[in-house]
Amino acid sequence: MGRRAFAPLSFGSGPHVCIGAALTMMEAEIVFDKLMRRWPALALSEPRPRWNRNPVYRGLATLQLHVPASA
Ligand code: HEM
Repeated sequence: MGRRAFAPLSFGSGPHVCIGAALTMMEAEIVFDKLMRRWPALALSEPRPRWNRNPVYRGLATLQLHVPASA
């Protein structure tokens, strides 16, 4: 089974696909845009963020960030 390029799997698929997907992606776009404008030097605190172990709802367990002092 294939999927469209860049089509996320996080919102399910088929008849019960998430009806909030478009809203959520729009909100995420706004949030990340605002974050990067406010703190352009925002960087990962650890080289490899940790992922949770849930195969169904995959996601980051934590995402630690910092703003370098000179920023
Ligand atoms: C990060 C945010 C979200 C994630 C990861 C997410 C994920 C999902 C997933 C995986 C499903 C399918 C569940 C299944 O197969 O049984 C689902 C269904 C659903 N989601 Fe979301 N969702 C998110 C946000 C939202 C928002 C913001 C709304 C409403 C404004 C929403 C409303 C719904 C509804 C009503 C369903 C059931 C659709 C149906 O059964 O026909 N979700 N969501």
